[in-house]
Amino acid sequence: MSAADKQGASQAIYRVANEGGVAVVTIDLPGEPVNKLTRQGAAELERLLDDVARDASVRAIVFVSGKPDNFIAGADIDMLNAVTSAAEAQELAAGGQVQLARLEASGKPVVAAINGAALGGGLETALACHYRIATDDPKTVLGQPEVQLGLLPGAGGTQRLPRLIGLTDALDLILTGKNVRPAKAKKLGLVDEVVPKSVLLAIAKQRALELADGKLKPVHGVRARLSRAMAKTPPDAALLAQLALEETPVGRQVIWRKARSGVMAKTGGHYPAPLAALDAIHEGLEHGQERGYKKEAELFGQLVVSDVSRRLREIFFATNALKKDTGTGAGVKPRQVKKLGLLGGGLMGGGIAYVSADNGYAVRVKDKDDDGVARGLSYVRGLFDERVKKKSLTRLEENQKLALVTAGTDYAGFGTVDLVIEAVFEDLELKRRVLRETEAATKPGTIFASNTSSLPITQIQEASSRPESVIGMHYFSPVHKMPLLEIITTPKTSPETIATAVAVGKRQGKTVIVVNDGVGFYTSRILAPYVNEAAFLLAEGAKIEDLDKALVEFGFPVGPIKLLDEVGIDVGAKVAKIMHHAFGERLASPPGMEALVKDGRLGKKAKKGFYTYDGKRSEPDAKVYALLGAGPRKTLDKREMAERCALQMVNEAAHCLGEGILRSPRDGDIGAIFGLGFPPFLGGPFRYADAVGAGEIVRKLEAWQQAHGARFAPAPLLVEKSRTGKKFYS
Ligand code: NAI
Repeated sequence: MSAADKQGASQAIYRVANEGGVAVVTIDLPGEPVNKLTRQGAAELERLLDDVARDASVRAIVFVSGKPDNFIAGADIDMLNAVTSAAEAQELAAGGQVQLARLEASGKPVVAAINGAALGGGLETALACHYRIATDDPKTVLGQPEVQLGLLPGAGGTQRLPRLIGLTDALDLILTGKNVRPAKAKKLGLVDEVVPKSVLLAIAKQRALELADGKLKPVHGVRARLSRAMAKTPPDAALLAQLALEETPVGRQVIWRKARSGVMAKTGGHYPAPLAALDAIHEGLEHGQERGYKKEAELFGQLVVSDVSRRLREIFFATNALKKDTGTGAGVKPRQVKKLGLLGGGLMGGGIAYVSADNGYAVRVKDKDDDGVARGLSYVRGLFDERVKKKSLTRLEENQKLALVTAGTDYAGFGTVDLVIEAVFEDLELKRRVLRETEAATKPGTIFASNTSSLPITQIQEASSRPESVIGMHYFSPVHKMPLLEIITTPKTSPETIATAVAVGKRQGKTVIVVNDGVGFYTSRILAPYVNEAAFLLAEGAKIEDLDKALVEFGFPVGPIKLLDEVGIDVGAKVAKIMHHAFGERLASPPGMEALVKDGRLGKKAKKGFYTYDGKRSEPDAKVYALLGAGPRKTLDKREMAERCALQMVNEAAHCLGEGILRSPRDGDIGAIFGLGFPPFLGGPFRYADAVGAGEIVRKLEAWQQAHGARFAPAPLLVEKSRTGKKFYS
């Protein structure tokens, strides 16, 4: 029995009221903020459908949520975690399919009245209804996000969705897991109507009776799409072409092939769920629904117990747990923050200003000169403009958000800010100077946060007259896309400062981990030996393209050499020096990098790095090898190259946990995945170490230590785990 089942065992999930011949079924999972599909709920729904079928006074049914901001968020994931075999999970899916088939076949029309999230099993429930109405509320979203948890829609979604909205659009939703907003849902034919929240139930009841009376005969599927295409003047040629393709076996061949190769290109074959979803959809459309449903349940069963889905579900739970984490003691309350100050309107400062204003903070930016001010403001405007173009924001909303951001070249306006984030150049003396200036310009208690990517917060804090209010807030570039915020605390940082910085980060939409101070904190520190190892491999004769390909095949989004070009080779060299100085030979990088910087090879920003950036395609630049002073190129084993780099990262993560930089393996895994792109399907460095086994990792590290040197010496904590046979996650 899952947590939700236990909690709700005594109270009903579904409340039914007969309102003028319409059975209004209110879904309201007791004790939970969101509705989820549970075993108890399934049994209740079964009885409810029996009752409604028998009750002659009921002519139609409306499903509505009792929660203010969600319809049904999906299946209860605790319930899936409790499953012990593929057969059991398959049965669970088959049970859901039978129940929704029964709903669909009930002789009385069923209307789904959707406000808030209708996701996963929630959307599948709505798909089995005969008519769908969604509100235009900003909280209303629809989607099949199962693939993001390594699963597929297992309650008929792979069969009903393509029939309702067409193969191409259904693939787009199911294979990516993306959400759609009500207007798009209406355009796709996913919902029949979009209405204001205030009239949702009234209209749903009215439509239910019209359906029962035969006055309303909704048109769905191909016919609906055809009439939508023809209703336009001139007719929607793109939609007609899409329909023509989908309605012929030969046309569909093209779609299947493209979808499969698209998935392979995106996932590198590491994620089985989208391919399984594709198989289930294919089975149903090419061989009939009965076989389709069977396949869907069978593949769902296999995916639930797969390692990849387990890892993705663990990440989901870890992220949820971090949402509730204050970052410090449970009783500590964050201070109220209304206005932020930002020092530096560069790449990072502009990005931080954007996510702040987007989430309702007033922001005052200070840069050192007018150019910096103008650059910062236009960066923020550019990001909002893009959203207006994509129609996810109205011009009015943009103007309201932009009005929150003002900027200047002095500290005017800083007297009323509650928290200041500095993102000036990476220079300790400069950071200390702006800290002193900030303390002079702000009220007592104002928090000073540094976005440094490598300087210890303790060293910046030394310049402070109120060290309890000094903290690190390390964002990642580009700030509006990267989900992680690494917060760095020192022994002098007060719990209230920590709780406040964490609360601000969460409101900016970030997943926040809190780590202790040290050179490179956690993320920059574990990145250093990973990138160093790539540089050692280059020095040994690896080809740039082979090396990058090896790590992409391992599951990283980009290879380490390409990453260096993106970050800036000068930045990388600078950080490498700091790390070497702090940690000694273990984190020394091979010689040669300085030569690249001297040659003006700073990476992508200088259009000259390990890769060329002048032609149409960016290609490895063979001139680099001579500059590195390395010998002829060899073909090295790809898997070994990838493991040497990845295990350097894992080993350094174990150092960080052992030294108390990290509070938990969970934070280490989330930091590596969301900040550095460690492959999610491997679950992060610690989950990976647990899966491979500390003993095996230590054995590999020791072998490389023999062959390549002391930098591979295993971290004490790894050695201990190897000796005791214990895992990082108990
Ligand atoms: P940037 O060079 O784009 O921006 C720095 C800005 O600070 C410039 O606009 C400059 O005019 C301004 N500035 C310099 N002195 C100032 C002063 N006294 N008062 C006000 N403004 C001043 O640099 P970027 O990339 O935004 O980096 C800023 C900080 O963020 C650095 O500490 C960097 O290490 C850190 N960081 C950078 C990341 C990246 O990927 N670029 C990632 C994470 C952190």
